[in-house]
Amino acid sequence: MKPDTSEILISSDEIRDMVAKVADEINSDYGDRPLLVIPVLTGAFIFAADLVRLLKMPVEIDFMKVSSYVGQTSTGILKINKDIAVDVKGRDVLIVEDVIDTGRTLALLRDMLKERGAASVKICTAFDKPARRVIDIRPDYSGIEVGDVFIVGYGLDLDGRYRDYGDIRIVKDNEEQ
Ligand code: IMP
Ligand code: MG
Repeated sequence: MKPDTSEILISSDEIRDMVAKVADEINSDYGDRPLLVIPVLTGAFIFAADLVRLLKMPVEIDFMKVSSYVGQTSTGILKINKDIAVDVKGRDVLIVEDVIDTGRTLALLRDMLKERGAASVKICTAFDKPARRVIDIRPDYSGIEVGDVFIVGYGLDLDGRYRDYGDIRIVKDNEEQ
């Protein structure tokens, strides 16, 4: 069945206000401290593009593409599909995510960046689904909480589609979740 994406959950106006709120928090926490922003591909590309333009400190951006799978260990294994080129040693790092669901991928990514010697690693997400969490991980900056629904738009996809929507839609008749 073709998924129904006609229901708007979060409007583009609400998203704009959310990005401004998150940017304000980051600006007031970091002040003039330079920040290494690491958006997680692919979903975070639109949020990150909007966010960094509102940040006031010197910002460097490099992208990672990661996924996780549950292997022999209960924490799961991080697969790096695309790594950053910069050295994180001694840097203040801000991971930018589209949405936190189970939290598995992000927990592994955060731990890896700490192991590489980052001075600090904080997490910023546009959307958060706390009810779906498997790993206890809380974002330092969180835009809008959503319930147990599958959402698309503003960078988020279903099988590679719908990332280009300017608002967030709920997917009905979805078999992913
Ligand atoms: P997790 O937190 O490790 O379960 O993985 C979160 C990742 O799953 C996100 O970065 C998204 O790429 C994807 N994801 C989770 N929920 C949704 C959704 O509702 N729409 C689109 N992608 C999602
Ligand atoms: Mg993602």
